[in-house]
Amino acid sequence: MRYPITRSPNYDFKGQSYADTFPNLHRYPATMPPQIGIAILQEFGIHQGTMLDPYCGSGSSFIAGLMCGLKHFAGYDLNPLAVLITRAKYTWLDKRDIAQARQMLKQRVRTYLAHPPANLADIRLHNANYWFAGDVLAALQIIYHALRELPDEAIQTLFLVPFSEILRACSYTRSSEFKLYRLAPKDIASFNVDPVYSYFQKLDWVIAAYESYYLPYLQDIQLQLKLETFRTSKAKYDVVLTSPPYGDSQTTVAYGQFSVFINEWLGISHARQIDKLLMGGKKADELYQDGVLVSPIARIASMSFQRALQVSAFYKDLATSINEVARAITPGGFAIYLVGNRTVKGVQLPTDQFIAEQFERHGFKHCVTYERALSNKVMPNRNSPSNQIGITAPTMSKEYLVVCQKDTADD
Ligand SMILES: C[S@@+](CC[C@H](N)C(=O)[O-])C[C@H]1O[C@@H](n2cnc3c(N)ncnc32)[C@H](O)[C@@H]1O
Repeated sequence: MRYPITRSPNYDFKGQSYADTFPNLHRYPATMPPQIGIAILQEFGIHQGTMLDPYCGSGSSFIAGLMCGLKHFAGYDLNPLAVLITRAKYTWLDKRDIAQARQMLKQRVRTYLAHPPANLADIRLHNANYWFAGDVLAALQIIYHALRELPDEAIQTLFLVPFSEILRACSYTRSSEFKLYRLAPKDIASFNVDPVYSYFQKLDWVIAAYESYYLPYLQDIQLQLKLETFRTSKAKYDVVLTSPPYGDSQTTVAYGQFSVFINEWLGISHARQIDKLLMGGKKADELYQDGVLVSPIARIASMSFQRALQVSAFYKDLATSINEVARAITPGGFAIYLVGNRTVKGVQLPTDQFIAEQFERHGFKHCVTYERALSNKVMPNRNSPSNQIGITAPTMSKEYLVVCQKDTADD
């Protein structure tokens, strides 16, 4: 092992969940509990500067930054749902405007339920009737129509968060899975939801969580969010705090599939292709044979060349991304990555070592790698759902928090 690993129970947050600090406004797969980010920023005395998260997901790194005094943030993600949740969480809104909009929405939904408007937009869900009952779809259409009539776009964004959440909850998909699996016929026969009641109940919860946990910190912050893969430009960042995917989406966490209903509803034409666009989604045409990965990838190739190509694609993309990220960090700045070392064909892939090695090649020094145990309560979030129903993981029980610092003389 080239880069030493320090076992740190301080980072386990045993028995705690995400919600123990800042409840997420929307369920999202493989979230990083904000406690981890807060603790590592404090340990390295990072209290100012600009933070980048190149795989921001639902934006948990930014709350860690906010709690430590940072005010400038940039987030990138290819999943529209991720960008929607993050934008909703970190956009400042006036409480009175929220209350007024909620009232207006309630009234309009009531009116439209009695007299549906003639100009309802078409439902853009693929196979809608396979996943939803007809009356449920009609009610969802009315809620969405009324929501889109709200005058303020930022309020629409916040109000779309509970809409997305109930879209899944009102469908015939199993709520315990990240991927889409239809309920058994007997469960569909007894499936009974009230979309309007569910929506307003969820909306009230989201508003309360947003106002109590996020709003107090948002007044003077700047957040730049992009629905794209991070590429370096003129902008520079003092700290990168991120949790990249464990592997390609198709064999680890299917972020795209998890988000497909809301992404389609919002008119994202490539909603069903997102998992292929994420890191490692396109098959490599040669093995990744470099540094710490040479031996593990060769061992996987000896059992399945195709699988080794799939794994290679992911690390090739990760190396490209680190190249971009490294160039964007200011001299003396930090790269903090929370990663899992997943196992493929019985071979463990040393992603923590890979991250340190890559950053070192770009003029960084490895500061520390902490090993943390995933506690039961936190684990389901970070666990990789496999392709089989009900099977939630080739169980990952540890994560690694890798911290590297850019040379001060660099650039
Ligand atoms: C582990 S999740 C991040 C979770 C986040 N820390 C949170 O707490 O919600 C990884 C994220 O990387 C995104 N992602 C994967 N490949 C990407 C790429 N090439 N460009 C941008 N984002 C990508 C996925 O959509 C997913 O949201």
